[in-house]
Amino acid sequence: MAVLDIRDLSVSYSTPRGSLRALRNVSMTVPEGKIVGIVGESGCGKSTLISSIIRLMAPNAQVGSGEVRFKGTDLLARSEAEMRALRGTEISMVFQDPMQTHNPVLTVGQQMVDIQYRDKKPKAEKLKRAAEMLALVGIPDPEARLNQYPFEFSGGMRQRIAIAMALMARPALLIADEPTTALDATLEVQIIKRLKELQDEIGCGVLFISHHLGVIAELCDEVVVMYAGEVVESGTVRDVFHNPAHPYTAALLDCDPGHIKVKTRVLPTIPGNIPDLVNLPKGCIFADRCDKRHKACDTRPALWTARAGHRAACHLIAEKETA
Ligand SMILES: Nc1ncnc2c1ncn2[C@@H]1O[C@H](COP(=O)(O)OP(=O)(O)OP(=O)(O)O)[C@@H](O)[C@H]1O
Ligand code: SF4
Ligand SMILES: [Mg+2]
Repeated sequence: MAVLDIRDLSVSYSTPRGSLRALRNVSMTVPEGKIVGIVGESGCGKSTLISSIIRLMAPNAQVGSGEVRFKGTDLLARSEAEMRALRGTEISMVFQDPMQTHNPVLTVGQQMVDIQYRDKKPKAEKLKRAAEMLALVGIPDPEARLNQYPFEFSGGMRQRIAIAMALMARPALLIADEPTTALDATLEVQIIKRLKELQDEIGCGVLFISHHLGVIAELCDEVVVMYAGEVVESGTVRDVFHNPAHPYTAALLDCDPGHIKVKTRVLPTIPGNIPDLVNLPKGCIFADRCDKRHKACDTRPALWTARAGHRAACHLIAEKETA
């Protein structure tokens, strides 16, 4: 079963210019125990998607349609109290800036004890578990470090602690929004390696957002490529990165000369801009920037199956089949 199954989700923001349609008919799944990456340039709707899943949306956001099924039931239909109970327990999150997660005035040990508030164990046992978790993410001398405050740790260590805290609850789903983007490349590799080991042990599903194609290739089982609020391609990392079916994905990979072997820190830039999401173009959302644009592209393409488990929203796929 899928731990997360998003169906036909559309979200817009009210703005002075009109309704900004940030997500349109987005569908994707995170199978149990799998790591799914989301990649796409700035403004494609990654953060909007995450905030809709955990229901911490901007006040001017509206869900137009769709379902966010978590272990089979729709989160969009849950009460606020039910959502609060899920966050940090069944669904954990790691953000780009770990200071967002840590409370600056409490020791790391106290925060890690607080997360275990549902456990009826004595505090000493909770501290022991916290130290074990810190050791697992590679923090040396964990018992002593539990007495320190977040500012006493380096950025890389804070991010490891954030991952340890997120996984402490043994969540069914971990959502990570660019968790390693602010770190240097060597640290990033180390943290990704740890994350994968821990995920393997805990067996949770992970939704991992990154601009970094190399990290997605290394960490993820499946990848979803988003463009201007739509899913344009999805499939296994192998299929999508080695055999891209959508011209946008192909352009991203083409811009990366060493292909995904070279660790591109930022998503390569392809010429042109994403369309105005208040005044959407009629046809294919990528048409303005696509060098394969043709007559059929004046209508919006459906998500076609390129091969089993690999889909892309481009007319070329359907045309290849019927040719
Ligand atoms: N509260 C808001 N009100 C109006 N527009 C918003 C709001 N939040 C986001 N947007 C717009 O919605 C679109 C999607 O934004 P979102 O932050 O989800 O993209 P993103 O993929 O996370 O980008 P980035 O890579 O820069 O984090 C953008 O056009 C953005 O300007
Ligand atoms: S549908 Fe047309 S414009 Fe859109 S990506 Fe495919 S070829 Fe390019
Ligand atoms: Mg974002």
